[in-house]
Amino acid sequence: MSVLGIHLLGSPVLRQETRPVAAVTDDVRRLMDDMLETMYAARGIGLAAPQVGRLERVTVVDVDRDGTRQRPIVLVNPEIILRDGSSKGEEGCLSIPEVFGEVERPAHVVVRALDRDGRPFELDATDLLARCLQHEIDHLHGKLFIDYLSLLKRRSALTKWEEEKAKYPSLVRTVVPAAVVADHHDDEEL
Ligand code: NI
Repeated sequence: MSVLGIHLLGSPVLRQETRPVAAVTDDVRRLMDDMLETMYAARGIGLAAPQVGRLERVTVVDVDRDGTRQRPIVLVNPEIILRDGSSKGEEGCLSIPEVFGEVERPAHVVVRALDRDGRPFELDATDLLARCLQHEIDHLHGKLFIDYLSLLKRRSALTKWEEEKAKYPSLVRTVVPAAVVADHHDDEEL
């Protein structure tokens, strides 16, 4: 497995539509494994293929990570088949480091996808998992959490990003794997 570079806001791939995966092959499984390794190294709770410069419709999430315990979920061709309720919560994104904003989304979703063996499954999600899944599925359609912010909040998020961005001239961030996983983060990036 390898840790992949993470594309940052301004990299055109983040705004591209992904392609449905026709068959879950070993190549797709390798991509999933690399995405999981990248997500854990970056201490994120979700990662979508465009964030690593790929256009396969694949995302990985793990909102239960705690210390050394990992509960990865991989989703191929995910689709939201039910949306219910509404909830507000703070979001960040591994592709827009240090920028956060409050986003209102359905509080409960049911997602249909294929697993790493190409078998269909459904996931009934609430709370952080529901939020994370919606954020990642948005990535698969070129959409970012900042798109939901009011004009004023989006402007201030982008001003903050303009300062941050200077650290990443190539618009790709190289993640240095965390030496110790037991570290705790207040702000989760997806
Ligand atoms: Ni994100």
